Amino acid sequence: MIRIALVGFGTVGRAVARILWEGEERPLTLAHICNRRVERKIVDWAPDAVAWTSDFGDVLRSDADVVVELIGGLEPAGDWIRQALEAGKSVVTANKQVMAHAGADLMRMAAERQRHLLFEGAVAGGIPIIRAVREGLAGDRLRRVLGVLNGTCNYMLTRMEAGQVSFDDALREAQERGYAEADPTADVDGGDAQAKLAILSAVGLGRKVAAGAIPLRSIRPVEPVDFNYARRLGCTIRQVSRAEVSPGARGDVTASVQPMLVPLTSPLARAEGSQNVVVVDGSHGGETAFRGFGAGGDPTAVAIVSDLEAIARTGVAAPRSWRPPAAARVEPDFEAPQYLRFVIVDRPGIIASLAGVFWRHGLNIDSVLQEPDWPKSALPFVVTLEPCSSRAVQAALTEIGALDFHARAPVWMPILPRGERSS
Ligand SMILES: NC(=O)c1ccc[n+]([C@@H]2O[C@H](COP(=O)([O-])OP(=O)(O)OC[C@H]3O[C@@H](n4cnc5c(N)ncnc54)[C@H](OP(=O)(O)O)[C@@H]3O)[C@@H](O)[C@H]2O)c1
Repeated sequence: MIRIALVGFGTVGRAVARILWEGEERPLTLAHICNRRVERKIVDWAPDAVAWTSDFGDVLRSDADVVVELIGGLEPAGDWIRQALEAGKSVVTANKQVMAHAGADLMRMAAERQRHLLFEGAVAGGIPIIRAVREGLAGDRLRRVLGVLNGTCNYMLTRMEAGQVSFDDALREAQERGYAEADPTADVDGGDAQAKLAILSAVGLGRKVAAGAIPLRSIRPVEPVDFNYARRLGCTIRQVSRAEVSPGARGDVTASVQPMLVPLTSPLARAEGSQNVVVVDGSHGGETAFRGFGAGGDPTAVAIVSDLEAIARTGVAAPRSWRPPAAARVEPDFEAPQYLRFVIVDRPGIIASLAGVFWRHGLNIDSVLQEPDWPKSALPFVVTLEPCSSRAVQAALTEIGALDFHARAPVWMPILPRGERSS
């Protein structure tokens, strides 16, 4: 029997306890629960034998084999994981921030002490992507990870598309349904997905990148009209997290988190509502896609309990073998076709002046799209460009932004190239 101490009895912690207490027989005993001011947390569906405490020191001194850290945030969570490993305990966590920022050091610590540090719940909740890339795809050399890693953004984008509702209305709905926090910054501006992508880069690509170095672009500028144009291009819009080993000898990583047009044929387009999708591309085995619920108490608790089951199968002494990921720099730029949406006060000559700017920046127009029946005072239209770097698009847009016909600031998004696998 593996004895477990649960630290953090919130959404995920309670869901873990329910699975362990209400499900089938398992070789796992939930013996200790720790939470600040724990009196408020005691539930009548807990077995009498459980020890409740507000003092993490009690957990360290206890007979628990595994500490399950579910308090979230960088500190004290990171420090508590370190203390648990030092006390000879294995650790299971769903904490993406700690694993993105200190994961490599903690993994080394765990390996030195022959203890487990498992974190399946930290990336894509209920999708077993960490175990899949570490074990199921260990025989391949992964070159690229593409993902829809934030369920809140995906819920909002699919609502904006299906209901033609604004970003603000989609956010309000997501908050009412419990998919978005009161402060949605980490979700909509990309910080949450950035941490998950840094973990996937380390585990899947074997490249340790500074999470904060992965460039982010928010989904805030996306409007319902963008979905109409995306459809005309055979696409939809997703917040896409992407990391790829660069071809150069140094093996740096090109990475970003941003809204992109993705072809309707891509697995990324099939992430519905709050779902996540992860697509990995291996040098030998090609593309493998995973889809499921990336967040929520129950799906995340399944990942935690699966980690605990894995420890029960192998025993609390973990093998010492651990191959650290190679330190890599982040390069921000992918070449891709680009989608640019303008909202203008219409007058003759606008396309000609845009064409002049694109020409000066060496950018080739692929198509111009304009839906009928919009007012001339705020007329949306779209220009798509042949593959180019986002740096070149941004330089052209700086010049275009100074022109006098804009009713609203232009919006641009890369288009996931159709020729690439996964599209
Ligand atoms: N919820 C999800 O869908 C989801 C999905 C994937 C991963 N995760 C990760 O899972 C972890 C837990 O998330 P959650 O949604 O369960 O969070 P939560 O509902 O906010 O629960 C956190 C619990 O930890 C307690 N806590 C926080 N700081 C503490 C401290 N310093 N000392 C003692 N107790 C403390 C909180 O107590 P109070 O009640 O006093 O605040 C609360 O009971 C996070 O790392 C999160 O990123 C969550």
